[in-house]
Amino acid sequence: MIELTNGSDVMELPNYKEARKRNTEIVEKEYYEINDNLINIGLNKTYHVKTYGCQMNEHDTENIKAMLEQLGFVEEVDIFKADVVILNTCSIRENAHNKAFGMLGRLKHVKEESNKNMIIGLCGCMAQEEKVVNDIMKKYKYVNFVFGTHNIHHLPYILDKAIKTKKQVIEVFSKEGNIVEGLPSKRANRYKAFVNIMYGCDKFCTYCIVPMTRGKQRSRDKDDIIKEVNKLVKEGYKEVTLLGQNVNAYGKDLNTNYTMANLLEDVAKTGIPRVRFMTSHPWDFTIDMIEVIKKYNNIMPSIHLPVQSGSNKVLKLMGRKYTKEEYLELFDQLRTIPNVTISTDIIVGFPSETETDFEETLKLCEYCKFDNAYTFIFSPREGTAALKLKDETTLKEKEERLYKLNELVNKYFLESNQKMIGKVVDVLVDSKSEKEGMLCGYTDTNKLINFYGDEKSIGEIVKVEVVDAKTWSLDGKQK
Ligand code: SAH
Ligand code: SF4
Ligand code: F3S
Repeated sequence: MIELTNGSDVMELPNYKEARKRNTEIVEKEYYEINDNLINIGLNKTYHVKTYGCQMNEHDTENIKAMLEQLGFVEEVDIFKADVVILNTCSIRENAHNKAFGMLGRLKHVKEESNKNMIIGLCGCMAQEEKVVNDIMKKYKYVNFVFGTHNIHHLPYILDKAIKTKKQVIEVFSKEGNIVEGLPSKRANRYKAFVNIMYGCDKFCTYCIVPMTRGKQRSRDKDDIIKEVNKLVKEGYKEVTLLGQNVNAYGKDLNTNYTMANLLEDVAKTGIPRVRFMTSHPWDFTIDMIEVIKKYNNIMPSIHLPVQSGSNKVLKLMGRKYTKEEYLELFDQLRTIPNVTISTDIIVGFPSETETDFEETLKLCEYCKFDNAYTFIFSPREGTAALKLKDETTLKEKEERLYKLNELVNKYFLESNQKMIGKVVDVLVDSKSEKEGMLCGYTDTNKLINFYGDEKSIGEIVKVEVVDAKTWSLDGKQK
């Protein structure tokens, strides 16, 4: 342990060289335990966790909240009033950084003015970045503690230390840790649950920071996954989303022949009414998986299949390991799943993307007519290979490409939704809608629908007739 003169207590700092390393060792499993001495440190104190980024982070937040509640803390909805505030951050694009740093600035102000004893923590993917943690140590001394994505289970100890020593406590592992089972979870939704099936990513797409922030791919033991789903079924959950950066590669790091297709089938057999999974990398999507999806009614026919670009040149530079033709072949096979909807992610303005490359992306979208798409301008990330590529396209050109792409994909979302008018669909009812007097939920094909219905149906799967279609949602009435 290094004691810094600036008042930091550094147990371990992030290191990209370490984070990039991959070995073939199978990671160990350990069980979360909490020291009895700590379970009162939160008595009469409140917490607030703010989450940025993807479902992985949302799910980590569920664990973090439950750990804090084990320590006696109570949730406070107003971030500026809480005694302990934790920002669970995302590194994927520059604007995610800006949001988190913007919030830190606001918290500093509040800590100086009105909530002087506020304890501020930072975790998540930004905590795995060397530069971020160096900046926190130098310029953000009011941040009390930092922990990374590999040591979430150490939170009670880190927080306790930060409170007792009044120093800035930093513990970020660069090498992925063990798989930790038995973490408590305060689930955000009573009917829909996230279940991790794997951690990390070994794909190293050249633009992407995730392999550095989340470590090497580690699949969870299938028995632990099935046990968790069975428990959720007993507790009345209606839907699980199997989570991973690249779920189709499930099992490849274990010494077994058990694949994602096998896991999907076993999860479907638990009888949970709805099974979803994300995210799928086209490289590992197998015909066996398609067959399993077709065989089980409770595996939802909605697939997120990021394409990133329609140009083979750009795909190669991105390190995506498939061509446009291979993507389209898989896409056509997926379309044979009855009723299926397919969504995607697309990056515009990748270094060296020309107008002609971009037009190939548009052409691919004209063919695929995606039901939904998340579109981004390339954001250079420190520690990734694409950072070194020459990029001559101006931001203005990139913005124009994004605008043009969005216009096209939005047209297809609307068309896809309009095809639903008059149909009766299955909807898992989430809650009251923001639209006065209506409820909202998602169809089996993952479309958001606002509808007139019976409030008692919240948490149930009901039949709803689609009466109108917008670009991003449907309107309906319960049958
Ligand atoms: N594991 C998922 C992606 C997770 S990140 C997959 O491989 O599909 C979600 C999306 O963010 C990516 O699909 C990509 O479109 C986008 N993204 C990732 N890094 C980015 C970057 N540096 N700039 C812009 N978009 C990026
Ligand atoms: Fe990032 Fe590629 Fe891994 Fe997805 S598959 S998390 S885009 S490196
Ligand atoms: Fe962001 Fe980390 Fe998820 S970088 S997208 S929170 S894995």
